[in-house]
Amino acid sequence: MICSDINPYAVDLVKENFNVNKSNLKGSIDVRLGDLFSVLKKNEKFDVIIFNPPYLPIDKKDIIEKHDWIDIATNGGIDGLKFIIRFIIEVNRYLRKKGRAYFVFSSLSNRTKLNDYLKKSELKSQIVTSRKYDCETIDVYSLFN
Ligand SMILES: C[S@@+](CC[C@H](N)C(=O)[O-])C[C@H]1O[C@@H](n2cnc3c(N)ncnc32)[C@H](O)[C@@H]1O
Repeated sequence: MICSDINPYAVDLVKENFNVNKSNLKGSIDVRLGDLFSVLKKNEKFDVIIFNPPYLPIDKKDIIEKHDWIDIATNGGIDGLKFIIRFIIEVNRYLRKKGRAYFVFSSLSNRTKLNDYLKKSELKSQIVTSRKYDCETIDVYSLFN
């Protein structure tokens, strides 16, 4: 399994968690630091790709160049789609023929724009599970050939 994040602290924590729990786990992990798919070689393909992106939309007035790690973990841009759109556009290159990709989406984000990108994508899509909270619904979308 390959895991990745742009945050070096997150990468270290994944390694630490794996080491603490490895007696209960099968296989090994390869943890990589970097921006989305840039951590992968072109010939690396997967049956399952899971992305829990920074998915929260932010107000225009909140756009300041602060960029601490919490902001980087949560800030999905004005429409909440900054990383999800990149994922939809790039993921197919790394998916095996019968593979599935999954990403998290908040109902606070722009679903109309998301649907436009999903329609344009070469992949099919469906919502596979949803959970309602007080102020938002979280959906998990699946992308597949
Ligand atoms: C909502 S958190 C998810 C954290 C964790 N992976 C999980 O599922 O609980 C989003 C994560 O995306 C990472 N991230 C933000 N921008 C990124 C980028 N350009 N490339 C890779 N990871 C990024 C953040 O550092 C943060 O750890």
